Amino acid sequence: MRVLLIVLLVFSFFSLSFMTLKDLKDADELYERINALNYKKFARAPGFEKRTQSEAEIQHFFKEPLTVDIYMNEIVEEALTKDSIEEWPVGSLLVKDGFLDDKLELISVLEKREDGWFYAEWNGEATAKTAGYAVQVCIGCHASGDDMVRAFRFPQYRDSK
Ligand code: HEC
Repeated sequence: MRVLLIVLLVFSFFSLSFMTLKDLKDADELYERINALNYKKFARAPGFEKRTQSEAEIQHFFKEPLTVDIYMNEIVEEALTKDSIEEWPVGSLLVKDGFLDDKLELISVLEKREDGWFYAEWNGEATAKTAGYAVQVCIGCHASGDDMVRAFRFPQYRDSK
């Protein structure tokens, strides 16, 4: 019995890695919501008008670089029409689909909530790989963006890289 418990504990630790059950539940809710919103009908992010080679250097365990489709919801679109902003508004939702040879391998989401950015990532089978507010692996790369966004800049910097 004790051995079984230990095996179960070790297994659940590795399968959830550093996600709490709450993060996992949030990830499931978010996955259902982005699909209910039909995110592939959202506007494409500036600079990503069509499927584009990703510039993310470490492709989370993928050997080759992925090609990506990046979508933004209306709140981000609206923010981009402003002259100048200091942060992306609460409700901003960005979805990046990553493909290897046209097969969907990775779905990554950034959602600006009252409590800050929520990060989540699923594999092509809709299994959450990462989710939460303080996901260091995401923040490590995204911190260099304008309020965490890497694909494009605040409207006032639209013409600079
Ligand atoms: C190795 C660096 C790196 C890591 C780690 C990383 N990203 Fe990104 N991400 C990028 C870059 C660069 C872009 C710009 C688009 C591109 O070239 O793929 C991007 C774009 C995105 C976008 C589109 C919106 C935006 O910010 O441009 C989402 C959504 C996203 N990443 C989610 C995540 C999540 C969730 C994680 C953690 C699980 C993560 N990323 C980890 C580098 C990274």
